[in-house]
Amino acid sequence: MPTAVRSHAKINLGLHIGAPRPDGFHGLATVYQTLELYDIVTVTALPAPSTTLCLTSNDNRVPTDKCNTAWKMVTLALESLGIFAEVKIHIDKRLPVQGGLGAGSANAVAALVGLEAELGITIQPCAPSVSISLRNGWEAKRLEIAAQVGSDVPLFLIGGTVLGLDRGQQVSPLPDIEPTWCVVAVPETGVSTAQAFRDWDVLIADERLTEQSSNDRLEQLSRTYASAFAEEILEGGQGAGSSGVLSLGEDRAGPEESALVRTGILSWVGNDFERVVFPQHPSLAEIKRILAGFGTPEAALHASLSGSGSALFGLYQTRGDGEAAQARLKQQVPEIRSVLTRTLPRGAYWREMFL
Ligand code: C5P
Repeated sequence: MPTAVRSHAKINLGLHIGAPRPDGFHGLATVYQTLELYDIVTVTALPAPSTTLCLTSNDNRVPTDKCNTAWKMVTLALESLGIFAEVKIHIDKRLPVQGGLGAGSANAVAALVGLEAELGITIQPCAPSVSISLRNGWEAKRLEIAAQVGSDVPLFLIGGTVLGLDRGQQVSPLPDIEPTWCVVAVPETGVSTAQAFRDWDVLIADERLTEQSSNDRLEQLSRTYASAFAEEILEGGQGAGSSGVLSLGEDRAGPEESALVRTGILSWVGNDFERVVFPQHPSLAEIKRILAGFGTPEAALHASLSGSGSALFGLYQTRGDGEAAQARLKQQVPEIRSVLTRTLPRGAYWREMFL
């Protein structure tokens, strides 16, 4: 019987980029956050004398051959498990392609989860308290395979709020933020991630950012991220309920009481890609400004480009504040598509994975 899996989007709450490395990648310190928005990936797999793959999608921009991340993931997984199977994958696309929302990467993990269910391989989802180093065998192997498929694939094997280091593939769970209203604006403009990284290199060449100084900066940032989130839990801060989830919900009296604001994280998180993407696409900077609504009673807690874009997001204290942001967008940039959603903590991410 086919297995249908939700393939959730992510945003980058913060994203700091280092200098180019000899391996062609860039060091990163980022905080990923999964969202309620999703594509649906349906997998059918039966053991067979040799492996065959058939991939379809409702969106003709999705590659249906070995270039597809889901194809790569399933092929590597079967090779690694030493299993031959006849596999059918259908991707029902609802998220934008090339949007900075990690949709293709999430599809790869959803295809893997579907394949595992079809073949009867059970995995304990990563609980908030379980550290990566404690896991072994297949669970460690699938993280390795995910990293081979793409730098922002492994985060979807964790879900919720996730710290990403090295080239973004070295992931560890952070204490989750409570479901927070989020407006995602999806401009038509496509931004190539590889090109954005090349533009970053040109920018920092002028700033003489060496590999050493960049590593120092990223290490400092990753420590700050980890401790800013951990502090809330260890100190049992107001925001960290017994569930170990940072609170940012609409039950709070005002933004000053939300944990993310109190820890000061929102005052210094940012996305380095904005420095190269905004000058080339000034309309994206304008959308960020509208999402932020600075100076209005419904102002965002935080607004930013996600990944290298072109999607942008705003986080809001209440549903009403999110709706006000959508109304501002509709009035000032009528052609822009926007979606009101919420951030998705790790527990719900795994509970709601199967349809
Ligand atoms: O890992 P992924 O396939 O997503 O990377 C796509 C491209 O983005 C890489 O080939 C590289 O040019 C660039 N990249 C990078 N540094 C990273 C991640 C990606 O330069 N940390």
